[in-house]
Amino acid sequence: MSNPLAHADHQPTNPSANEHLHDVLARSLQRRHLLKLGAGSAAAAFLAGPSVWAAAPARARPLLGFKPVAASTADAVRVPEGYTATPFVPWGTPLFSQGPGARWRGDGREGAAEQARQVGDNHDGLHFFPIDGRSSQEGLLVMNHEYNTTTKASSYRHYLTLFGAEPAPADTSDRVDKAINACGCSVIHVRREAQGDWRVVLDSPFNRRITAATPMQLTGPAAGDALLQTRADPSGTLVLGTLNNCGNGFTPWGTYLTCEENFNNNFGTTVEPQVDGRSAAHKRYGISAGATGYAWETQHERFDYKKEPHEANRFGWIVEIDPFDPQSTPKKRTALGRFKHENAAWRLTPDGRVVVYMGDDQANDYIYKFVSEGRYKPGDRVHNAKLLDAGQLYVARFDDGQTSGDFMGTGEWLLLDKARNPLLRDDPDWANQAAVLVHARLAADKLGATKMDRPEWVAVHPSTGEVYVTLTNHNARKNTDDANPRAGNVHGQIVRWRERGGDASASTFAWDIFVLAGNPLAHPDRSDLRSGSANVTVDNHFNSPDGLAFDPYGRLWIQTDGNYSNTQAFAGQGNNQMLAADPRTGEIRRFLVGPKACEITGIAFTPDHKTLFVNVQHPGEEGESHWPDGGNAMPRSATVIVTKNDGGVIGT
Ligand code: FEO
Ligand code: CA
Ligand code: CA
Ligand code: CA
Repeated sequence: MSNPLAHADHQPTNPSANEHLHDVLARSLQRRHLLKLGAGSAAAAFLAGPSVWAAAPARARPLLGFKPVAASTADAVRVPEGYTATPFVPWGTPLFSQGPGARWRGDGREGAAEQARQVGDNHDGLHFFPIDGRSSQEGLLVMNHEYNTTTKASSYRHYLTLFGAEPAPADTSDRVDKAINACGCSVIHVRREAQGDWRVVLDSPFNRRITAATPMQLTGPAAGDALLQTRADPSGTLVLGTLNNCGNGFTPWGTYLTCEENFNNNFGTTVEPQVDGRSAAHKRYGISAGATGYAWETQHERFDYKKEPHEANRFGWIVEIDPFDPQSTPKKRTALGRFKHENAAWRLTPDGRVVVYMGDDQANDYIYKFVSEGRYKPGDRVHNAKLLDAGQLYVARFDDGQTSGDFMGTGEWLLLDKARNPLLRDDPDWANQAAVLVHARLAADKLGATKMDRPEWVAVHPSTGEVYVTLTNHNARKNTDDANPRAGNVHGQIVRWRERGGDASASTFAWDIFVLAGNPLAHPDRSDLRSGSANVTVDNHFNSPDGLAFDPYGRLWIQTDGNYSNTQAFAGQGNNQMLAADPRTGEIRRFLVGPKACEITGIAFTPDHKTLFVNVQHPGEEGESHWPDGGNAMPRSATVIVTKNDGGVIGT
């Protein structure tokens, strides 16, 4: 649960049928196994108990060594016994000691110029880049600032805290520009002092704010296409800013990937509001008719879809940033397709090509992968800088009814290529590959991709190469399939797949459900899918998995962005949280609980895995929170640094 503007993503915008008769038949057969037989199919066996995991070889030491924390509704961060959590770099933290924004005023009344030099708002995905490639004491902490929180009460036109403790509208040009400057990314030079505290290195030449107004370049096959041209940029290659920077990724060559998600919320119109004026593509990408809650379109014509209908096409991309070159121009990589990008997780093929896995976070949207044409060459920055500009984009179809070994089903990667896929090649609606990439959702509809329960983060297991994805929830789902097995799915699930032959570029895969989140307190009947799979217990239950990452030891870290009401279907689940799982045994333990009305998102470690950085987004978006400053202070999004008191590896 969170901001209604930013989370219209629970409403499907996908009108395509994407159903075939044989799929429906296979599905109904599988469904009977799943729900009635209670045994016999992989799905039923999975729900009955962790047979899938029983074959896991015994380990000398358990992967999860910490004592789990209880669910909590406190306005505080809770971590296991023997661990310490410290807030760090909240919204408004100065990056420079002189000039605008050199001090956080404490009341949030900074203007646009100050905000451009302070840490942004609504912290999300993040990554730690060691300063020398190895250090666990000093590096660049790079993070996303997803959006601005607005009030749910009466009018969405009020920003919750951006202009001070009282909700207020963006009713001046400076306020709109402050909101623009609070979004984007921060590059923060951080260092661990002798006494163990992490500090910002003020005035470091690496410190940088990237905002929704920073110039960036469109690159790859769609760059320059008519669909990307505007009056301000007839070249179709130069964009101002990045928007709705949600999850993230990084590359083997040391760059940061920021992923543009719900950009649609920033596009509206004030022109002839009685006339809709949106194209079918605008609608498929979730742009709403009329004015937005953010009001950017009142000050900048490019955010008005009637005045500049192509501007929205220049958002919804994955953007590559070189954090070590503060003068560099961020690159929007069109080869990776345009949709509501959650995060980006890479793996190399056996011959060295780069595969990037990506989710499109909307109810009934899809999972994608990009396979580069070129091969990664360690140390060759000039060569590697071009890898994300040429390759093939695929979208996933998850099939029912055919188990594969110990996994529940099989699937196929469908090629989004105008020249090579006859479904697109022979259809005059698709002018060229640029159209396929700019309108990737519509092309994927045509290929019959599987409508998923809101794909959020993707993570690749460090040794098996299996890929895990959080499907956060889909309470409006009616038609089910085996990978999305519940109608009215309020709890979500984590699905995993293994590529055929272990090759990330394979065209087929086998898939399985790792955990079906649920609530064994609210639904004690363990044959009810709402109680969750066998590895969900009264001690670890949660809803709406979102952030997801592996550490190199193979621990799977799961973060939630869900309902924190602690009642009914969510009784006993408390505030949003982070858990750790052992993928071999299926065991899940709660590791951290956030303060009131926040989301836990974004995860990064130092190379020694003794410092963990996670983000707390929008504490107090509903109700009252004073985290992290306490007293009567207004709440602020912030990073949390977690360390183990004995100096050990996080999770042990
Ligand atoms: Fe920004 Fe899908 O989370
Ligand atoms: Ca959020
Ligand atoms: Ca998310
Ligand atoms: Ca979410």
